[in-house]
Amino acid sequence: MDAFTVTLHHAYQVAVEAAVEAGRVLRWHFRRGLEILYKGEIDLVTEADLAAEQVLISRIREAFPDHHLLSEESGEILQDSPWLWVVDPLDGTTNFAHGFPVFSVSIALLHEGQRVLGVVYDVMRDELFAARRGEGAFLNGRPIRVSRTLRLEAALLVTGFPYDRQESPFDNTREFVALLKRCHGVLRVGSAALDLAAVAAGRLDGYWEFRLSPWDLAAGALLVEEAGGRVTTPTGDPLPPLATDIVATNGRIHEELLEALAAARAGA
Ligand code: IPD
Ligand code: CA
Ligand code: CA
Repeated sequence: MDAFTVTLHHAYQVAVEAAVEAGRVLRWHFRRGLEILYKGEIDLVTEADLAAEQVLISRIREAFPDHHLLSEESGEILQDSPWLWVVDPLDGTTNFAHGFPVFSVSIALLHEGQRVLGVVYDVMRDELFAARRGEGAFLNGRPIRVSRTLRLEAALLVTGFPYDRQESPFDNTREFVALLKRCHGVLRVGSAALDLAAVAAGRLDGYWEFRLSPWDLAAGALLVEEAGGRVTTPTGDPLPPLATDIVATNGRIHEELLEALAAARAGA
């Protein structure tokens, strides 16, 4: 095995263990009730976000002290390295803070700007989604594939809405309403990482969201690609390494979804 593959396989072990341990911490806090802090009017952060982040950072730093790391609550730990970890210790904070048991841990690793490892852990269902570039995507060790749905009209989709939706006109409501009328349904789960994991596992056919942060989608995007799906920007371009806008599908409905979103945005 070459040095890259050795590091990637080691990173996979570290990411899986870190996700499961962070999940244990989140479960403990979830059952105990919580202390909520406010980042903005509706942008919450809990004690649990911070505790789970500590687990991820210490695990990753211990194993790879020279890797670059970008994390939601702590920002960046800069290193001169081709390896960049992008992590969200708790994706779905609003659900968590309200006692709704749907949230995840999301860990991605990029090498020279390419997503090479993605782990998303659905904490309360104990489902671990994982992928390495070129090696497929797995749920609790079993291979997963995207759905076979051919048309948007038969699709079940998912989306999300940005935190500044109360002030910003770019609130995704036009797109949401337009798509709701064209398919079997549009869910709003509240964890971008789980939305993408569901597309990868073929449980949902497509997902779009704008104005996310890189840690919300980096791991999930690789899951979708490795499960045979397609991920692009809303204009159909390749997804940049630290993308914040995404359309992710089973591939078959991709063009139709891109067109529908563009039409909705243009007010057609
Ligand atoms: C949020 C979730 C949600 C998405 C938001 C994200 P957080 O992350 O992924 O699904 O709609 O835009 O910020 O704040 O729970 O880590
Ligand atoms: Ca998030
Ligand atoms: Ca978060």
